[in-house]
Amino acid sequence: MQNNDKKRWQVAQIKENGFWKRDGVLDSQIQRVMTRYAPVIADISKNLPTNATILDVGCGPTCAGQLFDVGLKTYLDPLMDSYLLKYQDRLPEGEKICATAEQMPFPDNNFDVVLCVNALDHMHNPLKALSEMHRVLKKEGVFILGIFTHPKLIAFARSVIEKWLPFFKEEAHPYSFTVDSIKEALIKLFLIEQEIKVFRKNTSLFPSLHREDWMFVCKKK
Ligand SMILES: C[S@@+](CC[C@H](N)C(=O)[O-])C[C@H]1O[C@@H](n2cnc3c(N)ncnc32)[C@H](O)[C@@H]1O
Repeated sequence: MQNNDKKRWQVAQIKENGFWKRDGVLDSQIQRVMTRYAPVIADISKNLPTNATILDVGCGPTCAGQLFDVGLKTYLDPLMDSYLLKYQDRLPEGEKICATAEQMPFPDNNFDVVLCVNALDHMHNPLKALSEMHRVLKKEGVFILGIFTHPKLIAFARSVIEKWLPFFKEEAHPYSFTVDSIKEALIKLFLIEQEIKVFRKNTSLFPSLHREDWMFVCKKK
């Protein structure tokens, strides 16, 4: 899983940047974020003080952190400068930082909540990113991971294509997780308190071959 290939990641980011420049995409993606993650986030919001510090990692222009109705928000994304150019009037209030999750410019134990939605499989070193998110989270803090997972067979096929058939690879996603592989990575650093399947496409002939969208609500170990 760990190739840390910066050139491969830059190709993914070019694709990603192009995706977010398309007309209408922000509205449809905000809709996805609202319908899938808002209920879990609303539940967690209830127990947070009004001055809770919240970090949204790989926030994109959708900025799921804005779904918390309390807190001081920080939004971090390596494409932030591009999002600020295209969506200046649509991004929520809060500090905006152009940086990667693998190397975050924050001290240890700094945030009450760290949120990372649909971004880990886009990064160049997801395990390093997880350990950074763990580092900047306060001891009693909450880590929320939203992630697309694939059935084992599909994840295996994707990793073979990624390595041996690069012409057919899915450019925006350098990594493919299964439910088991992401849990294995998480439990090294966090206690998983909730695991919620927030979406699975069931309108096709082969629903079991589709990716699923999961949320893991964790505490720092
Ligand atoms: C599919 S978008 C998701 C954006 C948003 N969280 C959402 O759910 O709509 C993936 C985001 O991850 C960001 N990303 C890619 N590599 C990253 C890295 N190394 N560190 C932090 N974010 C990264 C991309 O720039 C992009 O904005």
